[in-house]
Amino acid sequence: MTRIRDRMAERGRDVADWLEERTRLVSFMEKQLYEPTPRRGMWLYTLGSATLFLITIQFLTGILLLFYYVPTTKDAWNSIYYIMHHVYFGQLIRGMHFWGANLLLIVIGLHMIRTFLSGSYKPPREMNWVVGVALIILVSLLAFTGYALRWDQEGFYAWEVGMKIASYTPLIGAWAVSLLLGGDTVGPATLSRLFVFHVWLMPAILAPLIGVHLILLRLHGEFGAAFEYSERLAKLNKRKQYERMEEYFASDEEEEESSRGE
Ligand code: HEM
Repeated sequence: MTRIRDRMAERGRDVADWLEERTRLVSFMEKQLYEPTPRRGMWLYTLGSATLFLITIQFLTGILLLFYYVPTTKDAWNSIYYIMHHVYFGQLIRGMHFWGANLLLIVIGLHMIRTFLSGSYKPPREMNWVVGVALIILVSLLAFTGYALRWDQEGFYAWEVGMKIASYTPLIGAWAVSLLLGGDTVGPATLSRLFVFHVWLMPAILAPLIGVHLILLRLHGEFGAAFEYSERLAKLNKRKQYERMEEYFASDEEEEESSRGE
């Protein structure tokens, strides 16, 4: 048993070495996966990764829904009904997309609260905070436009209320409403625009912005980790110094004893 396990571990290492030599994938993964985090509140530092995971699920299930969803006022709701009742795993995929969106809003909110409470918006991480604000606005808009894509009573009236709110935007209110409606009232052009915003435009902005967010994170590291680790490093260095001194004096004593013995 142990021999088989050892051999399997050895094979695994061979495969990893082979990949590393040719693609540098292993060191890349190691760099991406291991980020020092402060000891206090360690688990709260996983909320960003949880957000990333949920967004990825949204992208994947969204692509699958697109195989059947039809963005016309006549067929939108019928296509969703079809997905729910006739498509293999349709109910599961739609459920994941719907509940995933709700969970995503909660988790992104918690992630924002964590970064706020740990003071991660302070220098030099202000830009990451600003990018984060853009991300939460985009994710909220994605959830809102997705809600209306169902084109049922709830979605339809939610969009109407949204338009009423948008119309009060100073200076650009009227222009924003006509852009979002595609005319003077809610109609087929509105659904087409909702579809474009939800499926193309916003994900196309969101994906690179997430990339920028992660690059900035790598640039400065997690807030609090740097000084905590430097403190630990300083302690470690001091301990090593003491150990070296002890070794030095011990070897000195040994030498003295051996010379006396001679
Ligand atoms: C699409 C949405 C988002 C994704 C995928 C995402 C992802 C991440 C990840 C993976 C981390 C590192 C792990 C962690 O600290 O939890 C992180 C850190 C961070 N995020 Fe986000 N995030 C998002 C939204 C936000 C929002 C809405 C804000 C705030 C307005 C924000 C501000 C920050 C800041 C300031 C850091 C650095 C944390 C530190 O240095 O302690 N993020 N994000």
